[in-house]
Amino acid sequence: MAEQKATNVHWHEGDITRKHRETLLGHKGATLWFTGLSGSGKSTVAVELEGRLNEAGILAYRLDGDNVRLGINRNLGFSAEDRTENIRRIGEVAKLFVDSGVVVLSSFISPYLADREQVRALHEAAGMEFIEIFVDCSLEAAEARDPKGLYKKARNGEIKNFTGIDDPYEIPTKPEVHLHSDQQSLAEEVDLVMAVLRERGIINKEATKKK
Ligand code: ADX
Repeated sequence: MAEQKATNVHWHEGDITRKHRETLLGHKGATLWFTGLSGSGKSTVAVELEGRLNEAGILAYRLDGDNVRLGINRNLGFSAEDRTENIRRIGEVAKLFVDSGVVVLSSFISPYLADREQVRALHEAAGMEFIEIFVDCSLEAAEARDPKGLYKKARNGEIKNFTGIDDPYEIPTKPEVHLHSDQQSLAEEVDLVMAVLRERGIINKEATKKK
């Protein structure tokens, strides 16, 4: 947990609550936390799911590792400490989005169990939905895909501390959703997540088409 540095700061409650915003939007806010190796397909599933949700009239927003590291987290690298800070900040950003009523699709390797549990705890303490989605893919399959040519560089020693090669990935122990991106189709994966969103009452049972 990061230390609270500023003193004499207090939470200022407004008149309009998350409930008001969710009523306005017609669905609940939630964080869908995609975790898995680089090249496992986290962002691919998130992009497809965002499209499906959009078609169904549900406001979703993607937070993506590479994108966020070009902006708010541009001062962070890939040391264990920086990865932890990366996930802590995204957890806080995701929580703000959920408070605004949005369905957040966050795709970060998030290799450490403790960091993911921290984000889960942050959401649960605020009574917010947190759904961990393990995008399971063998290292062999991710490396064979190598969409950005990074595994090749890691094997050559051009990139150090690359997750799965010379840096750890801690497998989720109890994810709400377990996808197998090296065995399932993209459509199957998206269908599965949509079903979980309906089951948990985050979106309406009939939310499949545009309103
Ligand atoms: S995390 O470990 O802190 O969660 P994040 O998801 O933000 O990582 O960023 C991972 C992306 O950064 C990878 O998909 C890859 O494109 C790129 N990357 C560059 N260097 C590394 C590295 N050493 N380990 C993992 N990913 C890296």
